Amino acid sequence: MAEDAILGYLATHEEIPDSGQFASQHGLQHNDVVNVIKSLHGFRYIDAQDIKRESWVLTDEGKKYAAEGSPEVQLFLAIPPEGSISKDELQKKLDPSVFKIGCSQAGKNKWVDMGKQVSRKVQHVEDKVKDLLIRIQDGQLNLLLQVIGKDDINSLKARKLIVAQTWKGYSVRKGPNYAPRRKKVATDLTRENLQRGDWKELEFKEYNFNAKGPPAEAGHLHPLLKVKQQLKNIFLQMGFEEMPTNNFVESSFWNFDALFQPQQHPARDSHDTFFMEAPSTTRELPEDYVQLVKRVHESGGYGSRGYMYDWKREEANKNLLRTHTTAVSTRMLYALAKQPFAPKRYFSIDRVFRNESVDRTHLAEFHQIEGLVCDRGLTLGDLIGVLNDFFSRLGMSKLRFKPAYNPYTEPSMEIFSYHEGLKKWVEIGNSGMFRPEMLLPMGFPEDVRVIAWGLSLERPTMILYGVDNIRDLFGHKVDLSLIKRNPICRLGIN
Ligand code: PHE
Repeated sequence: MAEDAILGYLATHEEIPDSGQFASQHGLQHNDVVNVIKSLHGFRYIDAQDIKRESWVLTDEGKKYAAEGSPEVQLFLAIPPEGSISKDELQKKLDPSVFKIGCSQAGKNKWVDMGKQVSRKVQHVEDKVKDLLIRIQDGQLNLLLQVIGKDDINSLKARKLIVAQTWKGYSVRKGPNYAPRRKKVATDLTRENLQRGDWKELEFKEYNFNAKGPPAEAGHLHPLLKVKQQLKNIFLQMGFEEMPTNNFVESSFWNFDALFQPQQHPARDSHDTFFMEAPSTTRELPEDYVQLVKRVHESGGYGSRGYMYDWKREEANKNLLRTHTTAVSTRMLYALAKQPFAPKRYFSIDRVFRNESVDRTHLAEFHQIEGLVCDRGLTLGDLIGVLNDFFSRLGMSKLRFKPAYNPYTEPSMEIFSYHEGLKKWVEIGNSGMFRPEMLLPMGFPEDVRVIAWGLSLERPTMILYGVDNIRDLFGHKVDLSLIKRNPICRLGIN
């Protein structure tokens, strides 16, 4: 409808000076007219120029009075034409706000005598406010600005019955492709067009090379997987081999005992560790080695006094969800020690579980990145050197180390990195040299040392992808569109 009106009008007229005026003259909604103008303009049937005008729209209060009459007139009409009414009576007849505003406006207009008794002062009043509001509401003001005086506008504005709004419309002329009717344009050249030969007459729609394509419904990698791959590449470039981590369930023996972690250690409590209900225990432990581990806990050896307590096999048999991937490293080192010695570099990146209360930075499960180097005569200096190499490949070249404690390493160091964004040192990992009480029962030669470190995958991922609540990254609350939208690659690491 609007389209026919516009194209038809331009057939005999030079210009549509004002789309608003045009809409009301033709009984059309201005919105519809605007949409058609935009579309016709896109196909260059018409040229369109923006028009902007200050106009007025009714506030909620203004709309109410346009429908029900102004308060002053409502008040006037509530007063009997002859005689008078008590102020209390009058108040009861009206809405409180209508009464209040009505009294003051009717008083100002000298329509009524206000005392204990209220009476009319004039015979008849006109509801000019209502009329003005209705005209503004109908959009007449836009066309007949001169008809409504500035004073009237100002007084409506002062009473907060109208507010200014920028009105947007167009003036329209014929465009280079003008025709009195829109031709149906072809969007594609088809086989049928070629066979029928009608392609010669067809008009084709221009390609819009700026249009976005439909979203690719392919698989998308989760940010954790992307950072995991990046870390994997770093380890591989540094000559590390990946350890098999495909067992979430582990025995206490490999998770704790073999690491020289005493059986009374608080981490072995069910408040910190998820123990398995079924099967609750393991039956597969290497018996000779178990005896050596028992002995080192109870009475030491290799220059150590041990912990001097009764080591219990039942405790070691308990199954749990591994609390660190160091359990895997321990199994790997045990297997390595059985062979003629050769230096090794191992890494792993996989899930671990801790019985923690969940908050914005903690989950009961997370991914641990772990690296270790096993060689003769390694020192703490080697550990610091490897850590500097590893973390600088991640874009963290300013590191600091703080002495720490792990049951299975000595010395141990927490790793801190200077975060340029946060302008402070943040803890990024934990490290150390595995204790002789752990390595020697496995059967390593005495001068073999193992340096190792661990960190979470979540923390660097959150920093790299700007996620500040871990539950947005992992778990049932994750918004799948985050996974679809995150960049395929990040240029630069930090
Ligand atoms: N297992 C340690 C942790 O869970 C990390 C670590 C690995 C520490 C290797 C020292 C050596 O935090």
